Amino acid sequence: MEGQDTSARGVWGSKVAFILAATGSAIGLGNIWRFPTMVSQNGGAVFVIVYILAVAFIGFTVMLAELTLGRHAQRNPVGAIEYIKPRSPWKLIGYLGIITGVCILSFYAVVAGWAAGYIFKTASGAFKGKLTAEMTTQIFSDFSSNPLLVFLFFGLIMGLTIFIISKGVKKGIENWTKILMPILFLLIVLLAVRALTLPGALKGLTFYLQPDFSKLSGTVILFAVGQAFFSLSLGMGTMITYGSYISKSDNLVSSAGWVSFADTLVALLAGLIIFPTLAFSGQPGNVGGEGLAFQIFPIILSELPGGYIFGILFFTLLTVAALTSTISLLEVPVAYLVDERNWTRKKAVLVIGVVTFIIGIPSALSTGGLEFFTKLKVLSFFALAFGNISLAVGALFICIFVGYIWGVKNALKEVASGNPRFRLRYIWTFSIMFLTPVAILFILYFIKTIAAG
Ligand code: TRP
Repeated sequence: MEGQDTSARGVWGSKVAFILAATGSAIGLGNIWRFPTMVSQNGGAVFVIVYILAVAFIGFTVMLAELTLGRHAQRNPVGAIEYIKPRSPWKLIGYLGIITGVCILSFYAVVAGWAAGYIFKTASGAFKGKLTAEMTTQIFSDFSSNPLLVFLFFGLIMGLTIFIISKGVKKGIENWTKILMPILFLLIVLLAVRALTLPGALKGLTFYLQPDFSKLSGTVILFAVGQAFFSLSLGMGTMITYGSYISKSDNLVSSAGWVSFADTLVALLAGLIIFPTLAFSGQPGNVGGEGLAFQIFPIILSELPGGYIFGILFFTLLTVAALTSTISLLEVPVAYLVDERNWTRKKAVLVIGVVTFIIGIPSALSTGGLEFFTKLKVLSFFALAFGNISLAVGALFICIFVGYIWGVKNALKEVASGNPRFRLRYIWTFSIMFLTPVAILFILYFIKTIAAG
């Protein structure tokens, strides 16, 4: 029954609660920090177009597959596969997902820490008055190369994530998201409106929205598809795990649709803030690097009446958005240890949390903190290896598993619970069995080109 916690595992309070929690997982630094950087480095509007297509045809397909699998099995990724195909090597998909999740969290929490640190930077008045791009770049590099500050906030984020997750699914995840996500959304709209009315905004918009198809390449497609998985929290079992808490009477198709739509909308809005502001500050569109968003937001905030207060609010909400994502990343390994290994929730959370922190140390020191890790670009490497390639591999195997091993027929039966008339069933079947696997194989092929470059 809706709203009733029928098992020790917990279920969402309602369909809306699930959508909010899944949206909270999806919306995060991927939309506001990573998406604009990706657009900037991969040809502008062309990337945006490929990205939207990737979300619509590939992301949505995988999202529905993960939710369906999760709800059917009512388990974490490893357990879900074991439930459907006992004692088979397919379980490795689940393990890959768990490792990927820990590795994503390790660098993600570092960046989330930057956002948290920026609350205090803003509050200290660092961004008052007229700001140039040179100034904000300097402030960012001073901040991100200071190991003390970076570790303080990285630790804070991990600590908060551990705290929230140890409280369990319902109380922990649900309540946060309900109130704060809508406020973040309104603030982003406000900032976009301001950015669009800056002098020079049009030049930024052109880069962002007018495609130059000569820039289309295998690399662009690889990054766009990888970013779609990252932004929608796919390919490692987050949505299998979140799906396992959905009630049987909910409509999985419309849930997947809403989450994909909201996530994409926020990413596109973030671009509407970043690119006009970049152009306004006299920079070309294709600058980038890890700090792009952190260099641009202070500029737009300083152009806004009441920017000081809005600035503090913005970085607070960005931190919260990141937290609703970090908790979804930590929830996967924790659900595995609790379900399959009978660990207590507290122990699982603590052990995985500490391990993740240790794995994150090189990333935390790779933005100037320590020359060795900075030269190796550890954070960018982790983002590419785990935040892109691993997710694509994971998604490929999830498609094959759902499409061929579990079987589309069985999956459709599960979808039918809560949605007896699934109109897109043939398109989804085609996508999960052919289109998506082939597209992923195609992009994995292009990794060679990137490794060579
Ligand atoms: N989607 C989140 C973001 O855009 C990050 C995230 C949370 C994630 N859970 C995930 C990415 C699972 C990949 C897989 O910020």
